[in-house]
Amino acid sequence: MTVLVTGGAGYIGSIVTEELVNSGNHVVVLDNLSQGHQTAVVPEAVFIKGDLCDQEILHNTLQKYGVDVVMHLAADKSVENSMIEPGKFFWNNVACGINLLDCMVKNGVMSMVFSSSAAVYGQPKEIPITEDAPLDPVNVYGESKLIFERILRWYGEIHGLKSISLRYFNVAGASKRFGSDCRPETNLIPIIIEVALGQRKYLSVFGDDYDTEDGTCIRDYIHVLDIARAHILALNHLDAYTSTKVFNFGSGDGYSVLEVVEEARKVTGATIPIDFCPRRPGDPPKLVASSDLAKKNLGWRLEYPRLEQIIKSAWLWRKEHPTGYDY
Ligand code: WQD
Repeated sequence: MTVLVTGGAGYIGSIVTEELVNSGNHVVVLDNLSQGHQTAVVPEAVFIKGDLCDQEILHNTLQKYGVDVVMHLAADKSVENSMIEPGKFFWNNVACGINLLDCMVKNGVMSMVFSSSAAVYGQPKEIPITEDAPLDPVNVYGESKLIFERILRWYGEIHGLKSISLRYFNVAGASKRFGSDCRPETNLIPIIIEVALGQRKYLSVFGDDYDTEDGTCIRDYIHVLDIARAHILALNHLDAYTSTKVFNFGSGDGYSVLEVVEEARKVTGATIPIDFCPRRPGDPPKLVASSDLAKKNLGWRLEYPRLEQIIKSAWLWRKEHPTGYDY
């Protein structure tokens, strides 16, 4: 199949692209390089530098390459920044996505796999979180993802667009070739790796007064390769559904910030100094997924279930690429 991956030069997008190529698909990557790196795109893929708000580029790309399916990963993802620049997040994560959908419908490209997020749930009432849990985002990032999920439903009902939305929990780790090089890094595990490499002095722990065993937030960390393979499964199941579907992707295990630090100390052998700071706005105390629906309906299985495997893969990649994609 020919798959257009928006955001395919980004952290998750580059590894999804790698997996798609490895599975025998033709891949076209569209990325404006605002956050991604062209060197993170496998050479077998066609790379096009462009923006989702550019209808001409979208039309030309969909037509020229005979795209069958779009995997839409391009988005702003920093929870923190979404609470500072809401307009930018709604423009990039919603309006530009609508532009993409309209170009797809005009060109008869009627299938999408959408990169959504656990952030659509906000502060969950029950753990683990299932797909039918209340949807009540506590930040603009999560709101933007939820709005787009709902737009997909209407494009399904009115235009017959088939879509599957993947609600990622906390994605981390690396493949052999590609890893996380966000600038700046805002996520826990890449930051811990930078501390372990001596590129940062210490880890700021945002709050130790949560209602958890050690007072720090609990998250469900999932290997980026398990997420990438979830995209392949979604691609292969698009025709199984007549309306839009959503699935959670997490490990089902929750680890606190301090437990992640402890595991990283074992994996890296580094001391990883920490400094306790005030809470970060918008942080729910505990987010852990139930991915039973994906296991049942898509046949998804975790290949890297252990936190140690996730941290080790990130550590090995960053040791080989201490300056990320800067050569
Ligand atoms: C995890 C925990 C922080 C950094 C992520 C992505 C977001 C979305 C949802 C996909 C929190 C704590 C972090 C640090 C810390 N992903 N922390 N010190 O906030 O769960 O959101 O998943 O859609 O794009 O950001 O992940 O890694 O930022 O934080 O104490 O320097 O680590 O407070 O409790 P989060 P995170």
